Amino acid sequence: MWTFHLPTKINFGRGIFQTLPKSSEVLGRRVAVVTESTIRKLETVQTVIDSLNPVTVFDQIRPNPTTKNVDTLSELLRGEKAELVIAVGGGSVLDCAKAASCLAMTNDSNIRLYHSEGKTFADGRIPVITVPTTAGTGSEVTPIAVLDDEEKCFKSPMSSHLFYPVSAVIDSDLTLSVPIRVTASTALDAFSHALEGFWSKNHQPVCDLLAKEAARIILTNLGNLYKNLADPVLRGQIAYAALLAGIAFQMPKNAIIHACSFPLSNRFHLPHGEACAFTMEAAIRLNTPFMEGRMEEFALAAGFNSVTSMIDTITVLKRSSGLPCTLRDAGIDPDSVALLVKESFHPLLNNNPKTVTETDLYRIYDDLR
Ligand SMILES: NC(=O)c1ccc[n+]([C@@H]2O[C@H](COP(=O)([O-])OP(=O)(O)OC[C@H]3O[C@@H](n4cnc5c(N)ncnc54)[C@H](O)[C@@H]3O)[C@@H](O)[C@H]2O)c1
Ligand SMILES: [Fe+2]
Repeated sequence: MWTFHLPTKINFGRGIFQTLPKSSEVLGRRVAVVTESTIRKLETVQTVIDSLNPVTVFDQIRPNPTTKNVDTLSELLRGEKAELVIAVGGGSVLDCAKAASCLAMTNDSNIRLYHSEGKTFADGRIPVITVPTTAGTGSEVTPIAVLDDEEKCFKSPMSSHLFYPVSAVIDSDLTLSVPIRVTASTALDAFSHALEGFWSKNHQPVCDLLAKEAARIILTNLGNLYKNLADPVLRGQIAYAALLAGIAFQMPKNAIIHACSFPLSNRFHLPHGEACAFTMEAAIRLNTPFMEGRMEEFALAAGFNSVTSMIDTITVLKRSSGLPCTLRDAGIDPDSVALLVKESFHPLLNNNPKTVTETDLYRIYDDLR
């Protein structure tokens, strides 16, 4: 028994972003553009913003967006009576825009109520069009926003059916300027979504299919992309794979890799994709014996004759792009392992195929010394 649901319309193609100002979804609306200062400076983005003639442009979002970013944006959207939000950026921008567009339709001014204090959104949101400029998070199609409540030192995803964007506009040319390290970490974040959607206890056949195809595309093309970051065809492949991986995990949800990523980002400031890639090989080794041959099936679909050779390729992809492979590489004091173990106990572990124990987590982090 399973359900598949995705209400977001998907528009994909090189150059498609430039057609957005003339689309019927946009014309005649009070548009607010949400982005980041570095992305706003990209020539194409500037041109499209000018054509959109927005009522406001908000570009004050930091990577790993904070609950305060959401509160500020939501107040602005309310004040400007925005009717449509166009979010142009990496997962950080998209997540902040999705959460703020819902908060703006409530009488509340603090997303914390919904992020960590149990309140749920009633119906109502400002529609959001997502335009990803990284190829990784899949946030363009997920009902999820990951927010960092700095005062509580609590980074966690929140989810609501109201977070589904109305449309995603995926133009891989926007990712041409992404430097190698971010290219690597975001692509491995996408790979982790494929893995986690596939091994989640809530996995289902449509998502399984998309997960395997996303994994194949990423592991076949990423190494080549490192050698030619300006290759638009390879950029298109990875953007497509990130989209598939996003669709593949948005219902089954993530598991151990993402649970472990939260303290790595909260405490030690690893970017999200690097934090996911950090425990990836160890997580695969831990889960494989508990998946009744499904991990072997996944590796085969990804183009490998064994799980071990797939793991080896992941390590090469991490090393050759400068991602941290040990605690020392990541600048983490080995004495912090107990803290990492404690803070990796996140509810996402409930989706993991193997019941995760403290000993498992110690083994994972100890192996990274
Ligand atoms: N909503 C979801 O389903 C979901 C899934 C996974 C991760 N996330 C969250 O998304 C966030 C990470 O998003 P991300 O990995 O896309 O990174 P990001 O949005 O934080 O961006 C990373 C860096 O890349 C830069 N950048 C973005 N686009 C660029 C471009 N085209 N050219 C040059 N530089 C560019 C940004 O300025 C930033 O410095 C984290 O908070 C993570 O927890 C959300
Ligand atoms: Fe992720």
